[in-house]
Amino acid sequence: ICRGLSSSAVRHVVIKNVTIIGGGQMGAGIAQVAASTGHAVTLVDTNEDILKKAVKGIEGNLKRVVKKKFADKPEAGEEFLQKAMQNVSISTDAGSVVQGTDLVVEAIVENLKVKQDLFGGLDKVAPAHTIFASNTSSLSITDIASSTSRLDRFGGLHFFNPVPVMRLVEVIATSSTSQETFDSLLNFSKMLGKTSVSCKDTPGFIVNRLLLPYILDAVRMYERGDGSKEDIDIAMKLGCGYPMGPFELSDYVGLDTMKFIMDGWSAANPDNPMFAQSEVLNKLVAEGKFGKKTGEGFYKYK
Ligand code: CAA
Ligand code: NAD
Repeated sequence: ICRGLSSSAVRHVVIKNVTIIGGGQMGAGIAQVAASTGHAVTLVDTNEDILKKAVKGIEGNLKRVVKKKFADKPEAGEEFLQKAMQNVSISTDAGSVVQGTDLVVEAIVENLKVKQDLFGGLDKVAPAHTIFASNTSSLSITDIASSTSRLDRFGGLHFFNPVPVMRLVEVIATSSTSQETFDSLLNFSKMLGKTSVSCKDTPGFIVNRLLLPYILDAVRMYERGDGSKEDIDIAMKLGCGYPMGPFELSDYVGLDTMKFIMDGWSAANPDNPMFAQSEVLNKLVAEGKFGKKTGEGFYKYK
């Protein structure tokens, strides 16, 4: 186990070995960035097929990066690729791999009970110094951490999709997170080349608290027939300079994840019309149309 306290004025655990749980869009992206910045990464999911697909995706993305970044130095590019790929291992047994890890980043399904069960189990087997972090989009870090006995070594590390491209990480401390843990998470984000912001452990942190109501308003406009989804997307791209319109972005995030977020918030705020159920979203999710990752959502992808 590599544990070192930095010699600078700020004390933090130097994170070298990272376990990332969940090899979907977010977990694979976080693994890609951590591996290409020199961290030893173990990616964990429920089955080998998902993990193999994730590793293939990471390699494909890194090849794209290398082609551009090392256009006139192909040998250095090949070395970078090899090194990054050597930094990635896979496992279906989180309990055994956390033995040697400094940081666990969880990026599994957006469900409080499932996240609590995962962390509750890992808490019993992970070394004392290991920091736990959740990439949750909408849940309370305090609630997730409550299944463990390491409240001081638990925080939020919220990345954005696509992780290799989006430069932000929201770093969240609960009222129990220690300064050392918070500084370790800030330093880790910096090592990944990201800019971090922090806010209180409030639903959606900064970005999703502002983004989700906007997306839902767009869905409601479409449900009312005020505008087509294509026109709403074009309007927000050309009128506001956003890279994606709200329907394209929903498909990109995943409609299943969007629904998990909305269901959680509407259960907590049943009288707030901002979080009321959307018929269109519910129907698409019920049909298994989760967006880009399943080939269809608001739009079709091939
Ligand atoms: N890995 C590495 N590089 C990647 C990549 C990946 N997975 N995906 C894209 N890229 C790179 C491309 O190689 C390209 O690089 P260059 O600029 O150096 O050529 C660059 O990113 C742009 O990619 P493309 O040309 O393929 O496509 P684009 O210009 O249409 O951009 C996009 C794609 C970056 C996704 C852009 O559309 C965008 O920024 N969309 C909005 C994304 C967004 O808002 N994300 C936040 C979602 S909310 C969230 O994540 C929080 C939550 O909890 C739900
Ligand atoms: P995803 O559906 O692409 O991937 C989730 C992965 O977790 C799947 O591969 C699944 O097999 C795996 N998984 C589920 N339960 C597991 C368990 N108990 N142990 C191990 N693996 C398990 O989802 P995603 O989009 O990567 O989102 C993951 C998390 O990140 C969610 O909490 C989500 O809210 C959050 N998030 C998503 C986005 C986004 O834009 N999609 C952005 C930021 C944060």
